Amino acid sequence: MKINVLTLFPEMFSAVTGSILGKAAEKGILELNFINIRDFSREKRDKADEYPFGGGPGMVMLADPIFNALESLGVEGKKILYMSPRGRILNEEKIKELAELNDELTILCGHYEGVDQRVLDYWNMEEVSIGDYVLTGGELPAMVLIDAVARLIPGVLAGEESAMEESIYSGLLEYPQYTKPRSYRGMDVPEVLLNGNHKLIHLWKFEQSLKLTKEVRPDLFEEFVKSCDDLSKDEQKVLEKIMK
Ligand code: ADE
Repeated sequence: MKINVLTLFPEMFSAVTGSILGKAAEKGILELNFINIRDFSREKRDKADEYPFGGGPGMVMLADPIFNALESLGVEGKKILYMSPRGRILNEEKIKELAELNDELTILCGHYEGVDQRVLDYWNMEEVSIGDYVLTGGELPAMVLIDAVARLIPGVLAGEESAMEESIYSGLLEYPQYTKPRSYRGMDVPEVLLNGNHKLIHLWKFEQSLKLTKEVRPDLFEEFVKSCDDLSKDEQKVLEKIMK
């Protein structure tokens, strides 16, 4: 998969290229292409923004450098996202949809008060938000999106991690995890995790996930209850206990 990122601050993305995603790029699974919008400006001093028509605070990103950058990429007709607090809020379903595109994805990072609306209209951009709060720019949101999409691309993560996706846990919050030592400052690891009984361990994890989800995200819990139709008898019992 190739991801193009149009930004005024390409250097910010060293935060993702140094990690797992950098390794995926080295392996050729993921190609990350960062484009400095300013390089496509035809204004003096590579200007990329202007005062808004009609007044108002802040600056607006110019259409021309962005048009030039997109034309140089040749991404007409392909998926182009614009990171913006005005967009639909990102969730795992959207992330899956993007990962399954398995094609070229282009992301525009906004700054200042936004971007000339004609950019969004002409290129048929989809606005995407990472939450109901406003950041100073679209770079951090783009990194969040890239990280979440990349971990679903086969080969990016080590194999064992993908198991969570298919299991009954999908749609639930993750159960608590413990590692060595067995006892730390008087706090003991739950006994069930130490006895090697995989069936009991599985049911304990499932119960913990259910409990946590019901408490913290009742919306997700309700959704899970509605859609879980492939539970074993034991899992069903655990679910009934939690629902009481
Ligand atoms: N740009 C600024 N705030 C944002 C947000 N919450 N999501 C996506 N892009 C943004």
